[in-house]
Amino acid sequence: MRSIVTGVGAYLPETVVSNDYLAKIVETSDEWIKERTGIHQRRRAAEGQFTSDLAVEAAREALKAAGRTPADVDLIIVATTTPDLTFPATAAIVQRKLGVPVCPAFDVQAVCSGFVYALSVADGFTARGHAKCALVIGAETLTRILDYTDRGTCVLFGDGAGAVVVEALEGQGTTADRGLLSFALRSDGNKQDLLYVDGGPSSTGTVGHIRMVGNQVFRHAVVNIAEAVEAACEKAGVAVADIDWFVPHQANHRILMGVAHRLGLDEAKVISTVALHANTSAASIPLALAVGIADGRVKPGQLVLLEAMGGGFTWGACLLRL
Ligand code: ACO
Repeated sequence: MRSIVTGVGAYLPETVVSNDYLAKIVETSDEWIKERTGIHQRRRAAEGQFTSDLAVEAAREALKAAGRTPADVDLIIVATTTPDLTFPATAAIVQRKLGVPVCPAFDVQAVCSGFVYALSVADGFTARGHAKCALVIGAETLTRILDYTDRGTCVLFGDGAGAVVVEALEGQGTTADRGLLSFALRSDGNKQDLLYVDGGPSSTGTVGHIRMVGNQVFRHAVVNIAEAVEAACEKAGVAVADIDWFVPHQANHRILMGVAHRLGLDEAKVISTVALHANTSAASIPLALAVGIADGRVKPGQLVLLEAMGGGFTWGACLLRL
């Protein structure tokens, strides 16, 4: 059995936050942010609009694209670092808001790598016959955990959600099959101090803010991601050169291009949405995939490589034939 992505959806909150707006709050400039990150703007969720609300909008679009309804869904996984509440899981809140019947629903927390991790978990359910129609969602309201006195982080992140419908379908067992073909997932807990949130229910009883040693994360990101991409390709028996589209986690345009160069990939094969979305953590891959599909670049049957790196460190890659 293969786990096929049959629908993709995305949602961005309405409010656009420009670099110039942030330059009024911290000592930065539109020029610095664009040059060092490629970010031109980001979205911010409205007051009272929660991660689950963004997730529900993206999920509705993904279900519509798949020709499914909430009644068909028998598994919900939400990858998020900014849940509505400590519990219940945002996935259970999404289930209630969407009107999905009783089924497994839970969150995956692997920060920016969360969507790739969540896809692999969904694959475990669908490919083994435990679920027929899974909703896998990446959704974040990261602007809620930013320290707006820290220019090294507050300019980098935005809010949004992306979702895919994953369904089981019999394949031939070759790389010509549609579906999730291979994964390479990694974590190195020793790098926690380079990227973390300084609060949590068990340690401080607070939510905390993002802390990052950006330039060190940058250096690790290019090397780690390239290794995971090569490992995922090797597992599937596919050459990196055969990838049609590279849909990375959108942390920084320079990281995206650095990884592409290291892998010898044509820059034109990289879907980059970092300019308009900024870093939306677990939401950024499905958001970018939705953009690539909507503008006609990414087509059914093509080979797509998803990759991410985030706090933990966690990182990973997934090879998918759409
Ligand atoms: N505006 C102006 N200057 C700034 C800003 C800003 N917003 N932020 C930092 N600077 C300054 C620094 O203070 C430093 O000044 P100094 O030389 O006087 O000390 C100078 O710019 C250079 O700082 P660096 O950190 O070396 O700049 P760099 O080119 O590395 O860019 C950035 C910083 C954008 C954070 C980059 O390192 C990056 O993108 N890192 C990786 C981010 C990432 O991938 N995160 C992982 C995912 S996130 C997650 O998991 C939640």
